[in-house]
Amino acid sequence: MTPQHNVTPATDWWRDAVIYQVYPRSFADGNGDGMGDLAGIRSRLPYLRDLGVDAVWLSPFYASPQADAGYDVADYRSIDPMFGTLPDAEAVIREAHRLDLRIIVDLVPNHCSDQHEWFRRGLAEGPGSTARERFHFRKGRGENGEEPPNDWESLFGGPAWTRVPDGEWYLHLFAPEQPDFNWEHPAVQDEFRSILRFWLDLGVDGFRVDVAHGLVKAPGLPDMGHGEQLKLLGNQVLPFFDQDGVHDIYRSWRAVLDEYSGDRIAVAEAWTPTAERTALYLRSDELHQAFNFHYLNTGWDAAALREAIDSSLDAMRPVAAPTTWVLSNHDVVRHRTRLGGGLDRARAATLLMLALPGSAYLYQGEELGLPEVTDLPDEVRQDPSFFRDTGQDGLRDGCRVPIPWSGQQAPYGFGDGGTWLPQPADWAGLSVQAQTGDPGSTLELYRAALALRRTHPGLGAGETVEWLAAPEGVLAFRRPGGLVCTVNVTEAPARLPAPGRLLLSSRQLDASQDDFVLPADTALWWEE
Ligand code: GLC
Repeated sequence: MTPQHNVTPATDWWRDAVIYQVYPRSFADGNGDGMGDLAGIRSRLPYLRDLGVDAVWLSPFYASPQADAGYDVADYRSIDPMFGTLPDAEAVIREAHRLDLRIIVDLVPNHCSDQHEWFRRGLAEGPGSTARERFHFRKGRGENGEEPPNDWESLFGGPAWTRVPDGEWYLHLFAPEQPDFNWEHPAVQDEFRSILRFWLDLGVDGFRVDVAHGLVKAPGLPDMGHGEQLKLLGNQVLPFFDQDGVHDIYRSWRAVLDEYSGDRIAVAEAWTPTAERTALYLRSDELHQAFNFHYLNTGWDAAALREAIDSSLDAMRPVAAPTTWVLSNHDVVRHRTRLGGGLDRARAATLLMLALPGSAYLYQGEELGLPEVTDLPDEVRQDPSFFRDTGQDGLRDGCRVPIPWSGQQAPYGFGDGGTWLPQPADWAGLSVQAQTGDPGSTLELYRAALALRRTHPGLGAGETVEWLAAPEGVLAFRRPGGLVCTVNVTEAPARLPAPGRLLLSSRQLDASQDDFVLPADTALWWEE
C-alpha cells in the first residue's frame, strides 16, 4: 500500500484545530441514489477548504448492514458499496491532503455488526466455542435460562441481551444487531491494532473513537441495579462504562499512533461521570482529545456557561490536553433548535465557542444555520432507538437530514436523485448557494469567524480565558493577542463600553459609538 503524503507538517496541529464532522449519508450524493457517498464528499472538499476548517471527521463508511447508520460494522477494512470503494476512500484522503485538510475516520471498537464474520462464526460454532469468547455470550438466569444474564439495558431501549436459538444470550449495549466485543480477548486487541495500522497506512490523520468508555465491562458483569430507563449516552456510574481497564487499551493504541509521522490523533467519545474522569483518557500516553459533552449539554445561561468553560479548562489542565468544544453532532438536536432561541442564539453560541481556547468540532449544516427537522413522518425514520423506545426522546433522524447545496427545491443540489430522509420544503434559502456572498448569512459568518481564527491564532490558544467585568447575563473575556469576546446571554439588550475595534458580530448592528447596546442573543469579537 502506498502511504499518502501528509499535509503541511505541524506539531500539535490538533490543539486548536476546527474539525468538521461529515455524516456521509447526508453530505453530498455523487451517484444520484439518494444516499450521500465518498464521491460526493470528494467533490465538496474545496467547499470545506474555503469554509476554513482544519480537518474533517468522517462518520463510518465501512461495510455495514446499516442497522445503526454504519455504526454496526461488518468489515472494518472495506467500504460499504452504498458509499463507494476503497480507492474512493483513498482518493478522499489524497484530495483532502492536497487541499491542506486532515482526515479523521470513525473507529467503532465497542461492538461490530451481527453480520461481522467473527460473530457469525460464534453463532454457528455454538456454546463453548472459542469463537464465542470474542463476544459476551452467557447462559440466562431463571429455571430454563429464559431471563437475561443480568439487568443491563441497551442505550437504545430494552434489555442489553438477546437470546440466540441455542439458548445462550449475547450482550449488546446498543441494538441487537451490534454485539459487544469481549475486550479481554487478545484476538480482539490485536485485531484493532491492526485496523488502526490499516487506516494509518492509508494516510488518515486520526480516529474518532466511538463509545470509547464502553470497551471494558466490570468483572463478572454485575447487575447495574437501576429504577429508571437509561437515557441515550448518559453519564451515570455504570458497570459497563468508564472501567479503569480501558486505559490499557488506549496506551497500546497511542504506541501505534506514535509509530507514524505527522501527528496522528485520536479523539474519544467518552461519557464519564465527571470531567476529571474524562481527562484520564487524555494522559500523555493515551488519547489526544475527548468531546466536551458537558459543554454541549449546558443551556443558554451565562453563569452555567461560564462554569462549564472554567471547569472544562480546569479538568484538562493536569493532563495538558486541549479542551474541546462542540454544539452539534449526529446524535443530538441541532443547536439552533436545542438552545431555544432560534438562529440568533445559535450564531451567538458559535462565536462564543470559536473564541475559546482549544479545538472546536462543527457538525455539517450548522454553518448553514440548519434547524432540527422535527416533523419527519414515522415511516421514514431510521434511527434504531425509534424502534426500541416508546418515547420520542433521543431520536436522531432530525439532525441527519441531507444538507441543501443549491436550487429552489429538494434535493437542493444534494445529488441527482432524491434524499434518504425528506428535506423540508422551505430550505432553499438555507442552501450554500443562497447564502454565499450574502454578508448577513450564517455561512458567511462561519467563513469570517474561521478566517479570523487563522489570522488571530490567539483565539484558539492558551489554556484559560481571562474574564472581564460585564453586566449581569453578559460574558466578556480576553484572549491572547488583545482579542475580546462579549456575549449577551440574556433576552434583553445590555449596554456596555466598546472594548476596542469590532472585528465580527453574530448579527448586524451599529457599534460605532463608544457605549453601545449589545442586543439579546448576540456575540461580538473585538480587537483592543
Ligand atoms: C455513538 C455514535 C452513535 C451510535 C453509537 C453506537 O454514540 O455517535 O451514533 O449510535 O455510538 O455505535
